[in-house]
Amino acid sequence: MTLRSVALGSGSYLPGKVVTNDDLTKLVDTSDEWIVERTGIRTRHIADEGVLTSDLAMEAGKRALANAGITASDVDMVIVATTTPDETFPSVATKVQAGLGMTRGAAFDIQAVCSGFVYGVSVADSLIRCGQANTVLLIGAETMSRVLDWKDRTTCVLFGDGAGAIVLRGETGKGDNSDRGVLDVKLYSDGRLHDLLYTDGGVSSTRTAGLLHMEGREVFKHAIVKISSAMEASMSSAGISPGDVDWFVPHQANQRILDGTAKKLGIDPAKVISTIARHGNTSAASVPLALDAAVSDGRINKGDLLLLEAMGGGFTWGAALLRW
Ligand code: UT7
Repeated sequence: MTLRSVALGSGSYLPGKVVTNDDLTKLVDTSDEWIVERTGIRTRHIADEGVLTSDLAMEAGKRALANAGITASDVDMVIVATTTPDETFPSVATKVQAGLGMTRGAAFDIQAVCSGFVYGVSVADSLIRCGQANTVLLIGAETMSRVLDWKDRTTCVLFGDGAGAIVLRGETGKGDNSDRGVLDVKLYSDGRLHDLLYTDGGVSSTRTAGLLHMEGREVFKHAIVKISSAMEASMSSAGISPGDVDWFVPHQANQRILDGTAKKLGIDPAKVISTIARHGNTSAASVPLALDAAVSDGRINKGDLLLLEAMGGGFTWGAALLRW
């Protein structure tokens, strides 16, 4: 008998304002054609002034709880993966905890930039398996629009705002790959690659959040190699081959990265969940947003084997195998 962290449900939330590529041509020297051809992005959602990461996280969290068929009082732990918190402290997660009316349990944030949700799966799974929590609300939420330089065409066209969430609960499994729940997670980082993707500010350095800078071409070169090797490592640990996976739920940074990774691993492109055209890159929110989109439209069903992956600033990257 093995304790597994089983997904009870998912939810997501996107702010109402949709910004098209044509809208961005009014801000920077770009074109719909360039953005679509180089990234696959057509639109992204941007939070209105005054709408905070915690607001997006709360809505996604509420929807995940409703879809899981539980209430906030059933939750032992709230974890929010975000790189764009409302405040330096306290965490977004404690704001969500209060907003949900929770009066017990614990809440904290995880900072692993675009890989935050995959890191969160590992942390939540570990806390469940060691008995610290039984029911965890894991949220990825971002207002990336607040750290963008809207004069920099090389970055401002790529990102969007949003939130996605899942509920994980400890349940007994048989201990083999047929179990529902988290089957394996692999996490990595390499701090030497800081300068390829970072913000030029922070509490301890500039006392500001700073703005995002990225050497896009260099990041791209690392992405397919690192993502593929994380996915391969996770499948190898769990004794699973790409053909066994029902759905690949990747971080949504660039359609060309999704296509390149699928090609490298021999994955059927029809099994790759892509929301990049509508959402852009929502950092830690992108994997749960894609996951919830495919659960909501009926593609992902109970018992399906999912392979999640992400890579982002740090660099951080990782992959997770989850039987839904
Ligand atoms: O989530 C974290 C992980 N992030 C990623 O994985 C992102 C990885 N990188 C990428 O997705 C791609 O590198 C980008 C989409 C960022 C850029 O695509 P690219 O094909 O690598 O373009 P590039 O940076 O090599 O730029 C090609 C040209 C340049 O002009 P020159 O130097 O060839 O004259 C850029 O100045 O495209 C130009 N350019 C643009 N043109 C129109 C860059 N941004 C734009 C733009 N509109 N928005």
